[in-house]
Amino acid sequence: MRTTVVAVVMVIFCVMMADADVKPQRDFNLQRFAGKWYRVGLAYDSASFVPFRDKVKASMGIVTALPNGDVNLTMWDATPLGCQVMVYSYEKTNLPGQFTYFSTRHNMVKDITVMDTNYTDYAVVLKHKVFNREYTQVALYGRTQTVRIDAINKFKAFALSLGFSRGSILTPPPAENCPPSRSG
Ligand SMILES: *[C@@H]1O[C@H](CO)[C@@H](O)[C@H](O)[C@H]1NC(C)=O
Ligand SMILES: *[C@@H]1O[C@H](CO)[C@@H](O)[C@H](O)[C@H]1NC(C)=O
Repeated sequence: MRTTVVAVVMVIFCVMMADADVKPQRDFNLQRFAGKWYRVGLAYDSASFVPFRDKVKASMGIVTALPNGDVNLTMWDATPLGCQVMVYSYEKTNLPGQFTYFSTRHNMVKDITVMDTNYTDYAVVLKHKVFNREYTQVALYGRTQTVRIDAINKFKAFALSLGFSRGSILTPPPAENCPPSRSG
């Protein structure tokens, strides 16, 4: 009982430390991170996003490691207009595990940091609204559509520690037929 409490306090403490100083996964390895992921968790506080919360699906993405260390992320999103595919380009920074990208929608450079991953099961990814300032989104990625509860709990605790409200922390259901199955 007591060890559990200590362990929980330790985890919360570590998460708060991460909050104070955003550090990517130690010894981040892009080759191991590449490949297929499902976005099985999303924390996003934007007021304009509230009406869409219960429509979010666990999108599938493919991380492609480019030879120069940059990344292309191909994402399939189930939208009211059908399954849409988008390619996002992330540029590496001096810090392995941290990337920048230019948001055409918001017309500014944002950054994206792989905070924690064990490559084979899950990854927690943090996105800033303005480079290095103001968290905008935390995502939990899984190699499959169901990740273990300990990874989900880690993601939720991290999002809460950054000030995301409980209602903004989502674990969406799988997307249906997106990307479309090739059988038809
Ligand atoms: C990466 O994405 C860019 C922009 O969409 C595209 O021009 C390029 O061919 C992609 N590279 C790979 C290896 O997929
Ligand atoms: C990654 O995390 C999962 C779930 O938390 C765990 O079952 C698995 O053993 C871990 N893999 C490695 C290589 O640490």
